[in-house]
Amino acid sequence: MTSDIAAGAAGPRLVVCGGRRLGGQVVVSGAKNSALKLMAASLLAPGTSVLHNVPDIQDVRTMQEVLEYLGAVVEFVDGTMAVDTTAVQSHVAPYELVQRMRASIQIMGPLVARFGHARVAMPGGCNLGPRKIDIHLRGLAEMGAVVRSDHGFVEVTAPKLRAVDLFLDYPSVGATENLLMAAVLAEGTTTLENVAREPEIVDLCKFLISMGADIDGAGSSTIRVNGVKEMRQAEHTVLGDRIEAGTFLIAGAATGGEVEVAGISPHVLDLFLSKLRSVGVQVHESPHSIRVSGELGSYRAVDVATLPYPGFPTDLQAQMMVLLSLAEGVSVVTENVFENRFGFVDELIRLGAEIRVDGNHAVVSGGRSFTGAIVRCPDLRAGAALAIAGLAAEGSTELRDVHHIDRGYERFEEKLRAVGADVQRLAAADGGRCG
Ligand code: EPZ
Repeated sequence: MTSDIAAGAAGPRLVVCGGRRLGGQVVVSGAKNSALKLMAASLLAPGTSVLHNVPDIQDVRTMQEVLEYLGAVVEFVDGTMAVDTTAVQSHVAPYELVQRMRASIQIMGPLVARFGHARVAMPGGCNLGPRKIDIHLRGLAEMGAVVRSDHGFVEVTAPKLRAVDLFLDYPSVGATENLLMAAVLAEGTTTLENVAREPEIVDLCKFLISMGADIDGAGSSTIRVNGVKEMRQAEHTVLGDRIEAGTFLIAGAATGGEVEVAGISPHVLDLFLSKLRSVGVQVHESPHSIRVSGELGSYRAVDVATLPYPGFPTDLQAQMMVLLSLAEGVSVVTENVFENRFGFVDELIRLGAEIRVDGNHAVVSGGRSFTGAIVRCPDLRAGAALAIAGLAAEGSTELRDVHHIDRGYERFEEKLRAVGADVQRLAAADGGRCG
């Protein structure tokens, strides 16, 4: 076998045998996009904080490495994580860790607040776009920090942050979180306007309040923080992952099956569920679970535009595009959050989709049927979307670069098998085809 063919076949892969209706219940894990920030927030107090319902995924393991690099002691067993930050003495997030996971930059706010200093490698771009951090840095500077960059690092120094009234240029999730965590120990009342309203922000505020912070307005566009003298360690349970929930709901709908996701409140997915209903998916809501069912031939096209919460989540855009490819009619999907989040379209076309990208719009011609093929996962959510397409395809789909999926989905193939999917994880050498 020539080297490039061998190289292409290298690495763990998922082989999905399509054409089966999914049926059953999935319990979602704790939200990746909350857990990572709660871990960073534990740096705000000495002693040991305890987090429950933490997903055992690659990004959490990377954030554990970041905390241990700073000198924290982390124990993570069966979804419960204890973070002892008493011995933290470094304030540096190295290039290798930031490059592996951009969310490493979320330690900036807590380190500057507690120690007056942070030196963080600047995150590079990624498949989704340049991923700037100008809103984070401008906010910290307005709070009195000295911000300077050199040798690919950004250094933030502030003996004492001061309370200010800040208006974010854009409701950035990460900037809201970094500035929130910086403000809790700043002298006076900080008002943050035009902040992100995601449920993960609310979860972070709950944890910060349990650590002794004085915060109101979580979940609204304006959050007020009355600075306190010190924070104390606390215990918290991570909320359910709404993006994982949406991913499995679309998998159920795209196979014409009936899938229930448990451990999630429907209200965090309001607009998404409304769009599923517009497509023709039956959606049944309970206080802590959501069930979907539908007939593949009955789905119809709808337009979707991603927006900051409570708009349609950009992290469910790729998965939705798979469902729209199966619905009758033409849908327009508009990506308003990231500069380049259609990178997976070419892979989806290889499975049988008909999509034309024009700037931040994707015109999806529906009524398609998929046939299995070898595809590569360009990023986390696109990888999950390609798996869904494989579940709906005739024949075998081989997903490569599945490490992207492992960053954010806990026991992904195990959960899919629990609802009837025929999916196997294969090491490099194994062959894999459907019976
Ligand atoms: C968080 O990323 C999530 N990641 C992303 O999920 C999610 O897609 C995103 O929020 C939007 O909901 C985590 O929470 C770890 P942003 P974040 O700051 O904080 C621009 C997944 O699959 N921007 O709201 O990086 C930026 O370039 C991941 O789980 C600036 O211009 O998102 C982007 O276009 C993918 N300057 C837009 O804002 C800044 O200083 C949204 O970014 C900051 C952001």
